[in-house]
Amino acid sequence: MCSIIGYYGKETAAPIIVKGLKRMEYRGYDSVGVATESNNQIGLKKGIGKVEEVNAKVHLEGLPGKIGIGHTRWATHGKVTDANAHPHPSTSGKIAIVHNGIIDNFQELKNDLEKEGYQFKSDTDSEVIANLLQRNLENVKNIKETIIKTVSELKGHYSFVAMFENGQLAAVRFHEPLIIGVGKNEFFLSSDVLGFIEYTDDAIYLDNRNFVIIDDDKMQILDFEGNSVKIEITKVSKEFADAYKGDYAHFTLKEIYEQNETILRSGEKTLDAIEKTADYIKHAKNIFVTGSGTSYNSALIAKQILSKYAKIKVEPIISSELQFSPDSIEPNSILIAISQSGESADVLEAVNIAKQKNCKIISIVNLLTSSLARESDVVIGMNCGPEIGVAATKSFTSQLGILYRIVEKLSNGSFTVDFKEISNSISKILENPYKIQQIAKDIKDISDIYVLGRGIHYPVAIEAALKLKELTYIHAEGIPGGELKHGPLALMDSNVFVIIINPNDATYSDMLTSAREIKARGAKIIGISDQESDVYDYWIEIPKTNESTYLISEIIPIQLLSYYAALEKETDPDYPRNLAKSVTVK
Ligand code: F6R
Repeated sequence: MCSIIGYYGKETAAPIIVKGLKRMEYRGYDSVGVATESNNQIGLKKGIGKVEEVNAKVHLEGLPGKIGIGHTRWATHGKVTDANAHPHPSTSGKIAIVHNGIIDNFQELKNDLEKEGYQFKSDTDSEVIANLLQRNLENVKNIKETIIKTVSELKGHYSFVAMFENGQLAAVRFHEPLIIGVGKNEFFLSSDVLGFIEYTDDAIYLDNRNFVIIDDDKMQILDFEGNSVKIEITKVSKEFADAYKGDYAHFTLKEIYEQNETILRSGEKTLDAIEKTADYIKHAKNIFVTGSGTSYNSALIAKQILSKYAKIKVEPIISSELQFSPDSIEPNSILIAISQSGESADVLEAVNIAKQKNCKIISIVNLLTSSLARESDVVIGMNCGPEIGVAATKSFTSQLGILYRIVEKLSNGSFTVDFKEISNSISKILENPYKIQQIAKDIKDISDIYVLGRGIHYPVAIEAALKLKELTYIHAEGIPGGELKHGPLALMDSNVFVIIINPNDATYSDMLTSAREIKARGAKIIGISDQESDVYDYWIEIPKTNESTYLISEIIPIQLLSYYAALEKETDPDYPRNLAKSVTVK
């Protein structure tokens, strides 16, 4: 989603803001802008493109002043244009805002404001915030009351930072993340700690319905009713500052290559929480597991492995669907919410629904300071470090690592996992990417790929298809192998590639039969297996292991294939078009 940032301090604001925006660019990256205050005047520069491109074009860093705001955009309302890029000034130019989220009633507000003579230059929902602030400030003459009045008029989910021409800053949080970084004689306002971690590790996580006013070198936090809120400073893990590519060409590649290590660390710092989770599950009547995208695919795996190895039934629910069938969750159940960011609006909404039904919330989350973590009764940390590449890679395998650990606890010793062995398998696959690079060249111009898996491997097929879609823009679909003859076989011809996930376990011979049926229709077969077969046009070897741990070995080559095919297609694997890392709007 969009990232917002504000700076108030003793240093020149614009270069600090540009640096912060670069670090947070993974959240949204179609346009960028900065506004600063200097001598009681607001200067503003913005444009479409990545931070580096726009900075090279308009020299964002050159804006003068020690107070400023900045934004990278992920378009929701209005196309990707210079005019729609943030910051947005109010009609008078005396206020500028940056916004993350969605204002549901922006059209009504805009109509009213236009009737009163306020002007709009963009198609965004965000611009109404700037003009509402101007109108309310003209009426009430003080910033606190202005904010209270403005938030009472806004509907939707939002966080925004507003800068006033006299150098005051205000920032509001309503269901979208907003964090204050507290430095020495300086303050940062940001959607993500990455926006300021280089300067300070003292952070205040604003609660929902809170806002902050920074003025005269002081900060005041208030709630939407105007009451003062106690300030609580949290130390942020410096680990999250470590968001550099190092020697890798892309974050995505770095994160794929980290997995032999991150799998060992999955859940490691929160083993007590895993224990507690197992205990909750043991005594629960109903267990649901939810997530979005890749995290939902982990939820599908949770269902498979909990039922297979621990004889426990759990029901996976796509987070964004729960609002349409809230009764599918019984009161007093357990909801396991899986989310890398802990900020996905759909997941938070699902949690909210479950909480209204008095459910216990267990979260499996990478960012322990996220909104999801703070809403949960038990928090299990993935512990895989910052994931910057938009496509989830190491967070997926860490989620599986944690699910394995939970199943281990629940299986009365019948299910054990050798994490060292999994780590070695990952290393082995990663050691030799050359064959995968060759296959990437061969798939680059095709329009359809199907990925087949059966049993516990079917959710991996779905995850594989998601990676291929996101990174290569090739249409990809995960199909349960046995369903082939019930329809998808009609799609098979010589223009199609099919990936067969085929470890040598109970699914092996049926999958081989499916592969032969497909091959007979002319499609090219990529077999992912520990066993070679003449049916494969390409064989990607994975080490022999046991049934459950194959899951992790299977996804690694497909992550790599997606990455290398993206390079072949000359798309940016870290920033796939139209996507954003942390989807904080519904
Ligand atoms: C896929 C991907 C997305 C996320 C989804 C949920 O590669 O990155 O599908 O998995 O947006 O994000 P989190 O896990 O942060 O809730």
